[in-house]
Amino acid sequence: MSAPVVELLAANPLFAELAPSELEALATAAERHEYSRDETVFAMQQPADGLYVLVSGRVKVSVSSSGGKEIILATLGPGQFFGEMALLDNEPRSASVVTQLPTTVYRIRRADFERLVEAYPSIARKLLRELSMRLRRANAQMESLVTLDVVGRLARYFINLARQHGQLLGNGWVAVRRPTHQDIAASVGTSRETVTRLITDLETRGLVVNEGKMSYLREEVLVEEGS
Ligand code: CMP
Repeated sequence: MSAPVVELLAANPLFAELAPSELEALATAAERHEYSRDETVFAMQQPADGLYVLVSGRVKVSVSSSGGKEIILATLGPGQFFGEMALLDNEPRSASVVTQLPTTVYRIRRADFERLVEAYPSIARKLLRELSMRLRRANAQMESLVTLDVVGRLARYFINLARQHGQLLGNGWVAVRRPTHQDIAASVGTSRETVTRLITDLETRGLVVNEGKMSYLREEVLVEEGS
C-alpha cells in the first residue's frame, strides 16, 4: 500500500539519498493531501505545521501588499517542496501557498523533518542549494522590476514559466498549463487589463496560441538576450 508513496518521495531530490528503511518510515508518516485548483494550502502568517512535497499540479507562492494586492513570488511544480522556511527559522509562514491546478502534496510533520535534517547532511545540503536558487531567482525578479518595462517583464515571465513548467513539443512550440491573466499580472507587477492587451497582441502575431487549458508559446519568444 505504501510502495507508491515510497517511490513518489524517493523521486524528490531532497530524499534521494535516504536509506530504504527511512523512506518506508517517511512514507508511512507523510500525509497525502489533494486540492482542486484555487485552494489555499496555507496562508501567510499561519503557524507552521510541516514541509510539503509536491507530487503533481502547480502552486503559487504569494504575499499581499499593505493595500491588499496579491504579489506572486514564485510558482512551484512536481518534484519541488515548500514550507521549509518557517520550519528552519521558527517564524510563521512567510507567504501564502494556493493551488493553480489540481494538486497532490505530501505533508511531512515538523518533528520528522527536523530529525531527517539532523540525520542526513545530504538533505541539509539540498535544502541550502534550493534556497540559494530561490534567492537567485528573487534577485533576478527584483532586477526585472527595476530595469525592465512591462513588455520585458512579461517576456521574462514566459521564459521562466516555460523553463520551469513547460513541455518542449519539438516542433518549435512549448506547451504550458495556462495561468490566469490575474496570476500573470500578480507575477509581473501590472494590471490584468494590461496582461490581456499584451497577450492579445502576442496571439495576433502568432507567438502565443491559447487552446482549452493550455497555452502554446513559440520557442523564439523564449530566448532571452544574452542567455
Ligand atoms: P514558509 O515560509 O514555511 O511558507 C511559505 C513558503 O513559500 C516558504 O516556506 C517557501 O517554501 C516558499 N517561498 C517563500 N518565498 C519564496 C520565493 N521567493 N521563491 C520560492 N518559494 C518561496
